[in-house]
Amino acid sequence: MNERVNEPLVIAIDGPAGAGKSTVGRALADRLGLGYLDTGAMYRAMTFAVQQRGVAEGDLADVAAVAPLVSIEIDDTRVCVDGVDATEAIRGRDVTEGVSQVAANPVVRDVLVERQRTWVTDHGGGVVEGRDIGSVVFPDAPLKLYITASPRVRAERRVNQVGGDVDEVEASIIKRDRFDTSREHSPLTEATGAVVVDTTGMAIDEVVDHILELLERTR
Ligand code: DC
Repeated sequence: MNERVNEPLVIAIDGPAGAGKSTVGRALADRLGLGYLDTGAMYRAMTFAVQQRGVAEGDLADVAAVAPLVSIEIDDTRVCVDGVDATEAIRGRDVTEGVSQVAANPVVRDVLVERQRTWVTDHGGGVVEGRDIGSVVFPDAPLKLYITASPRVRAERRVNQVGGDVDEVEASIIKRDRFDTSREHSPLTEATGAVVVDTTGMAIDEVVDHILELLERTR
């Protein structure tokens, strides 16, 4: 008998920035009628709150003191931080440059991991996307994916979305990958049992269909 039949379905998606995780995750959630949680937006929201308070992102003790106090409300389209709409601000340059440091703070990680688990319990499952979802947050998820693509392709996709110079964007992607994969706490890594999906040269629909087939096989 399948012991998982009555467990809420969690699909864990990890991978580097710009690999297509969000687009794929949202499309999957839609197709399966599940909620979608972008945990990167939570780390960005925390970074915004830290900056708003004038705290240096790398100040371990001060960031740790702030983290439990920050209110973050996330729905499908908006992110509110301490009651203020920060949807655009969390995608801005200041937050993007500071977020890796805030995300490396172990207290920030503890606070947000607990909130992510609560979100999934409250929503009866979901598609959850980030860097440590299959390794730390939901290591027992029935389907764990590591979505990746070459740095060049990731840079080209980003430039198509928001503009910029492709060489510069590629260099910044490589720098952020290095930081995220080498940090001490919950580094970005392929979780045990994760299926690697390389989206280089694949259309989003193809990726989603492929993942739905993988899901069928786990059931
Ligand atoms: O997915 P994103 O680029 O919006 O994520 C922003 C940053 O947050 C990124 O530098 C990695 C970090 N992050 C993390 O450490 N753990 C997660 N579960 C999600 C994101």
